[in-house]
Amino acid sequence: MSKTALITGVTGQDGTYLSRYLLRLGYRVCGVVRRASLPNTARIDPLLADAREGKIPFALMSGDMTDSGGLHRILEETEPDEIYNLAAQSHVRVSFDTPEYTADVDGLGPLRILDAIRTLGLAEKTRFYQASTSELFGKVRQNPQTETTPFYPRSPYASAKLFAYWTVINYREAYGIFASNGILFNHESPLRGESFVTRKVTRAAAAIKLGLAEKVSVGNLDACRDWGHAADYVEGMHLILNAEKADDFVLATGETHSVRELVETAFHLAGFDLIWKGSGIDEIGLDRKSGRILVEIDPKFFRPTEVELLCGDATKARKILGWRPKRTFRDIIEEMFQFDFDALS
Ligand code: NAP
Ligand code: GDD
Repeated sequence: MSKTALITGVTGQDGTYLSRYLLRLGYRVCGVVRRASLPNTARIDPLLADAREGKIPFALMSGDMTDSGGLHRILEETEPDEIYNLAAQSHVRVSFDTPEYTADVDGLGPLRILDAIRTLGLAEKTRFYQASTSELFGKVRQNPQTETTPFYPRSPYASAKLFAYWTVINYREAYGIFASNGILFNHESPLRGESFVTRKVTRAAAAIKLGLAEKVSVGNLDACRDWGHAADYVEGMHLILNAEKADDFVLATGETHSVRELVETAFHLAGFDLIWKGSGIDEIGLDRKSGRILVEIDPKFFRPTEVELLCGDATKARKILGWRPKRTFRDIIEEMFQFDFDALS
């Protein structure tokens, strides 16, 4: 009998990669989709087409992380072996504008699912994965960050995820549910949302190369992130839920790069050699050859409180789960730039 996986956030970047991966492993996959006024299934449309032809066991159910009754019904109907809770208002900058909504979806949402597992008597059967985040480390207390580094959240998003992180541990200890946190550092891909910095920059570099845009406006160039590839990280999620015991794991590459390096790398792929002039909000990035301004700063992309540096140590995941990332920062930016260049051409 194949296992059934329930994925919330199935229409997102990670939900799409995870669905493909679990289907390849022989799982039946059921995804939770929220109602939208226009279709929100673009990333998973190829899977839906295959499912319609009966080629893969992939199905969708309507639900929302803010709706306990609906989530309860979905669990009752699917009785999944594994739940991957990926649904979230996942944009850190946006969480400052929608703090209460973010807390509801990202903080209370996982609690609603865990409590449904408990009240439906699924504690023995259903394993629960929570998409925790390196944003928990925030104003970092120690470098690199491990599972034992103290947290210091710096946004409504991170505070909501902190509540969820401890709720997972509480339900594990109180009710014996196999519930684990994956503390994942940033992971990217051609399916990354277009307002996250990697995708925004690779798309802009491709558009400028093609003459479709003049320049790009960004925020903090000096923030540093540990960027991996989503395809590698969803394999880690599966390993976390299939470990001998429920536990919490950091998944990271151990390398950190600044937004400035990201911009230079993407523009280099587009054939531009960037030089920087000025400082603060007056800093600009110019093409060395033509002197054309390609990058400028717009303070609207700054955050009221910023996470300046993230760099993870995934030794525990390597030792216990045998997980290690395969793709490098350069591989990821190349793949994303090429995808955007082909799509815009
Ligand atoms: P994403 O692309 O933004 O996808 C988020 C998913 O959540 C989408 O399917 C979205 O649906 C769904 N969603 C949002 N609000 C919902 C609601 N109220 N009810 C039901 N579904 C809702 O995010 P991602 O990059 O794949 O990340 C997946 C998870 O990992 C998130 O929880 C994120 O916070 C966490 N995480 C991500 C990273 C990273 O670097 N990517 C790192 C650490 C942790 P729509 O398509 O309808 O918007
Ligand atoms: N989005 C964005 N847009 N970020 C910018 C920009 C810009 O124009 N310019 C500079 N940045 C900086 C941000 O200030 C931040 O320091 C960094 O680039 C990365 O921003 P994002 O790509 O928006 O990602 P994030 O690190 O805030 O959050 C992502 O990773 C978290 C894991 O650490 C999201 O995927 C979260 O859901 C995830 O938990």
